[in-house]
Amino acid sequence: MGEDKDTGVKVAVRCRPFNQREKDRGAKLIIDMNGAMTTIQNPETPNEEPKKFTFDFSYWSHDGFNEKDDGYLEAVPGSKYSSQRRVFDDLGQGVLDNAFKGFNCSLFAYGQTGSGKSYSMVGYGCNKGIVPITCDELFKAIEAGDPATKYEVTFSMLEIYNEQVRDLLSKDNPKGGLQVRQNPKLGLFYVVGLKKVAVGSYAEIDKRTQEGTANRTVASTNMNATSSRAHTVVTITFDQISKNEAGEETKKSSVINLVDLAGSERADSTGATGDRLKEGANINKSLSALGNVISALADLSSGGKKKVMVPYRDSVLTKLLQNALGGNSKTVMIAALSPADINYDETLGTLRYADRAKKIKNKAVVNENPLDKLIRELREENEKLKSQMGGAMPVAGGAGMDPGDGAYSKEEIERMRKEMEEEIRAQLLANQEQMNEMDESFEDKLKRNREEQEAMGAAQANTQDRKSKDPHLVNLNEDPMLSGVIFHFVEPGEMTIGRKDATPPPMISLTGLSISKQHAVITFENSEATVKPGEQGAKTKINGVPLTGPTTLQHLDRVLFGSNHMYVFHNPLNPKAPENTPTKIDWDFAQKEIAKHKGFDTASAGMSKEQIIAQEQILELLPMVSEVNAISEELNKHRTFEVILISGAAMEGYGSKKGAKVVVKMKNLLNGNTWLWERGKFMNRRYMIQELYQRHLDGDEDVMKIPKEEDPFWEPPEDVLIGTANVFLQSLSYALDFDDKLSVTDYKGVEEGNLYVNITPCSDKGKPLDEDFFVEDPQELLGKPFHYKVTIKSAEVNKAKYSKGLHVRYKVYQDEDFTSTPVIKATLSPEFKHHRIITYPAVNEDQLGYFEQGCITFQLFGVQEDSVNDNRLMKMTTKELRQMEQLQNPGMQRRQTISGEASEESKLRNELEVLKKKFERLEKKEKRIQDLCSEWKGKPVEEQQFEPFWRHVSAVANSSGNKLKTRVEILNTVIQSQKMTQEASAGGAQNGSNGSINSGAGSKACIIQ
Ligand SMILES: Nc1ncnc2c1ncn2[C@@H]1O[C@H](COP(=O)(O)OP(=O)(O)OP(=O)(O)O)[C@@H](O)[C@H]1O
Ligand SMILES: [Mg+2]
Repeated sequence: MGEDKDTGVKVAVRCRPFNQREKDRGAKLIIDMNGAMTTIQNPETPNEEPKKFTFDFSYWSHDGFNEKDDGYLEAVPGSKYSSQRRVFDDLGQGVLDNAFKGFNCSLFAYGQTGSGKSYSMVGYGCNKGIVPITCDELFKAIEAGDPATKYEVTFSMLEIYNEQVRDLLSKDNPKGGLQVRQNPKLGLFYVVGLKKVAVGSYAEIDKRTQEGTANRTVASTNMNATSSRAHTVVTITFDQISKNEAGEETKKSSVINLVDLAGSERADSTGATGDRLKEGANINKSLSALGNVISALADLSSGGKKKVMVPYRDSVLTKLLQNALGGNSKTVMIAALSPADINYDETLGTLRYADRAKKIKNKAVVNENPLDKLIRELREENEKLKSQMGGAMPVAGGAGMDPGDGAYSKEEIERMRKEMEEEIRAQLLANQEQMNEMDESFEDKLKRNREEQEAMGAAQANTQDRKSKDPHLVNLNEDPMLSGVIFHFVEPGEMTIGRKDATPPPMISLTGLSISKQHAVITFENSEATVKPGEQGAKTKINGVPLTGPTTLQHLDRVLFGSNHMYVFHNPLNPKAPENTPTKIDWDFAQKEIAKHKGFDTASAGMSKEQIIAQEQILELLPMVSEVNAISEELNKHRTFEVILISGAAMEGYGSKKGAKVVVKMKNLLNGNTWLWERGKFMNRRYMIQELYQRHLDGDEDVMKIPKEEDPFWEPPEDVLIGTANVFLQSLSYALDFDDKLSVTDYKGVEEGNLYVNITPCSDKGKPLDEDFFVEDPQELLGKPFHYKVTIKSAEVNKAKYSKGLHVRYKVYQDEDFTSTPVIKATLSPEFKHHRIITYPAVNEDQLGYFEQGCITFQLFGVQEDSVNDNRLMKMTTKELRQMEQLQNPGMQRRQTISGEASEESKLRNELEVLKKKFERLEKKEKRIQDLCSEWKGKPVEEQQFEPFWRHVSAVANSSGNKLKTRVEILNTVIQSQKMTQEASAGGAQNGSNGSINSGAGSKACIIQ
């Protein structure tokens, strides 16, 4: 038996081209490759040396290619571009060669969502990936192989989602998924009852893959599951049966595992820090477990640590990949890299992961055994198991298990006995299955599977044929791999769409959230299709707009049924799409359209990196929020969710550099309490909410009685951010005070009240500086001590519900923690009387910069209590309450622009204040100089000497003489622009596109155009 000692895991990285979104925003390329070396540049520190990594292969697929007429991407001569074929030649061919030698092989793809894992593994269109090429080449090699050898190939395909295994070649999977068991003899894990089909050609594998992909698409759409969170495992077994020199029949077998892993960023739940239910949800347990297994194996291989426990058992994925990772397998990992600056952290993470994987050493052996021996061993083991079943089971009170010693109670022994019995029975069954399989000849299996496929094949061929002739709906999925997989042909007459429990049953049955029994009806007459809602309240959107009555469907229209069933309508009979419709419609396009209708503008020209990230997060969160709202309605949770944009300053206290933050607001519809959840926390909760809903669908009645502590919809009441008010500190740089009534506005720019604050330069004891203390040039402050006093006098709040308690908090430059006023209860006009003196022993450039550019964001909070719910509201369903809420707050329709900067207008207003004050002082000086002049003029001639006169005047004027004019000019410009800003905002309000722009003191937390 051959053995390859310590074969290292082969690691390749591959960098994809920019996608359309990245091109649109002018993304920067941060990856470079040179030979086997890959470098990555941190976009934040462009002058630093890039980080270097070396792998077995570094594939540059970013540029340097041509698209041929059929769509195949090939290298431009002389470029370093790596095509699909090149990747196969290096990696796939090796897999194939090893499989023929009888080694187990594994190939897995790792990387962030959208980085190109599926492209490398499976491929798109004629750019076939490693898996199809390998399968194709396998059969070519078989054909050219030894005629005396029998070749047997089987194929299976499974998906691991949420720690459950689903057979992708089966239409009905058991609830909770297939079981994973360990074979006690071999120690390996396997999936009980997974369908393994015999295949005799590449075309058969291709058809089975299509079948598996279609099943995946249906499941992912029905469950509202994000497919990028699922791992897909294709397993090919390849047996070669031949006679050895001794005339014995031997079997050389190879198991080939091809794994397309879930998007790596999903393993990261750091965003959920601070969530009380953080431990409850592990966004992708399998992926984090894989990371741990790889780390442990890397440690073991590098010999640093002798005893490392490899935690294979921690997840389903690592159980199934145990051999691939740390055992008998030749393993290849391909790490897919996103090339854009925005993904720096994730891509660096992927490179580090790949770097660790490269340290792993496996021990692959050739699996070759005499056939007889295999059968004999299986029989013997079966006999042994049978005898265990009958005899030596531990019995309550039996020998060695005397309950008298207090170790085990009767019940415990009974339970253990049952468990063991079950274990043995399962093992027996599995062995029996294996023996039956061996009894059935491969030819028979092939025949059986071909018959099954033929029936399916007819339907597939039919679809291909009809696509170009008949009008149809074709699905769109977030994962491009699952798009264009499901077809519904529109028949002449009426076609009903709805839930399968409707009477009469619909012609197209859909499952999942927000699908009504009679959801919609499509009528097709005279080459024209019309769609209308099937019942009141059924949620359908056409091109992002809710469907309310009959609407004609045009070629390439986007149709969304419920919250997740997205289709594109194709009409080959009248293939004229409305103007401005792109020829190729993808998921992004359809989502942007929906977002736009909800009031989120998605133009990307001239946006900062932060704004682009915010925009991408909005597009990502909107469908999730719709889904959670739909679950809230179905489980009657009395909660509603909304994506909101809030400035970084409003969220974090100071500094407007952070840009806008995308957060989710949850509102309790019974008592009006609200919560703001950061993206990470929302994702975490959404995952738990999905799980809860899945349990509900599985018939688990406890879901309705879940204790609030475990309920992902529940949150203890916390203080709510009513709104914010910004004070720009420019006045401090001239040692002027600031005293004003500020309006407090919420994230939508709606005025919620006022805040009276004062910021005064002062002595170290807090005494205001002398009237005459005047700074001409802020640079004068450098190096000198400086003190200022923040006073929060009082506030006025508009809404009565905030009378339970109010407080204000804020941070100034370099503060780690917030400073907060005490909570003032039972009033809407709290007197805070808060003072704080801030001292800089010697003002430095940074602090001066803060005065000149920065601001203090005062956050006004209201106390919320888990108050008694309104009984009248309790009688209403969540659906009704949400409808009522939407009627009361049509805020959703407001246009929102992703802009993070604190309002320009408020900055301007502040500057104006400063200049006004400076102007006043200069006017005073001017007056003093004029007075001096008249005073000297009035003196006797002999006293009118120039020297002392000059001294007096210059003492007053200092250097202000010629600066005065400039200042006045600046002031004028500012006043002019202020006027223009006001006019512009008034105009905006008139045309009605924005309900409530606040032209008062700048304090908008969310910028609404
Ligand atoms: N090397 C490449 N050349 C050209 N296009 C590519 C390449 N790699 C990826 N793409 C394109 O990028 C998009 C995303 O790739 P892919 O679907 O493979 O991502 P993924 O890593 O599988 O993501 P997910 O985790 O969501 O499944 C696809 O449209 C694909 O065609
Ligand atoms: Mg993929």
